[in-house]
Amino acid sequence: MKANVYDKDQAAGAPQKTGAPSRKRSGAWLVVGLILLSAIPLIFGAVRLNELARGAEITPANARFFASPLPVVLHIVGAAVYALFGAFQFLSRLWRRGAGWHRWAGRLLLVPCGLIVGLSGLWMTLFYPGTNSTAGAGAMLLYALRLLFGSGMVFSILYGFIAIRRGDMIRHRAWMTRGYAIGLGAGTQVLTGIVGELIAGPPNELGNALLMGAGWVINIIVAEWSIRKRPSNRARTASVVSNLR
Ligand code: HEM
Repeated sequence: MKANVYDKDQAAGAPQKTGAPSRKRSGAWLVVGLILLSAIPLIFGAVRLNELARGAEITPANARFFASPLPVVLHIVGAAVYALFGAFQFLSRLWRRGAGWHRWAGRLLLVPCGLIVGLSGLWMTLFYPGTNSTAGAGAMLLYALRLLFGSGMVFSILYGFIAIRRGDMIRHRAWMTRGYAIGLGAGTQVLTGIVGELIAGPPNELGNALLMGAGWVINIIVAEWSIRKRPSNRARTASVVSNLR
């Protein structure tokens, strides 16, 4: 029988019983927080899908979505599934108890939808008129940031998937966390946009690109912090360090 890498990881980690109720509560709050963070871009997405479905008036602001609706429809539907179901993957009790839900949701929903979000985001960056503009420092910066983080998201999900197929739970968690953090940049960008506007008024193109970049950078910092603070990583680091001594 194939060894359960989730159980192996649990055995390697810190004691599991102590503080369980408070961990359960903090896990539930994390899921609520992640869902709230993705809510605003997903509401914008629902509005856009409704506009496309009912054939709203075509304006310069939405013409690209009507000319090529498939990428944006896939992007929004994929993002809804990835952001909402992905949040539950951070509930450790779901993967500790045999990993059934975690494994199947990951294979059937999250890896495909995460890749659809990243790849459709890259496609829109490269081919939507206006989105692929590099005229001006702001447009060029946003274009480069989208290519960088879109590719980073696709790479993280693929590498996280390869890691778990090889039984490397620690790398799997780390890279899937990074991929999710990049995806949820869309939510943090709403917050950085609001804060930026409150402080300095409506941003110009460069300001907008910087605020969007800040959303991604904040998420990556939080993801790296959460990857490093995990007990299993600390335990592994400690055992590696003690083996070196
Ligand atoms: C779960 C994460 C994400 C969510 C919830 C999300 C949400 C959305 C929504 C709702 C739209 C439609 C905007 C509109 O109707 O005006 C959109 C467009 C777009 N997204 Fe995402 N997105 C996510 C991740 C990403 C990533 C990682 C990239 C990186 C390449 C990306 C790049 C784009 C681009 C280029 C557009 C088209 C923008 C335009 O032409 O104005 N998105 N996204």
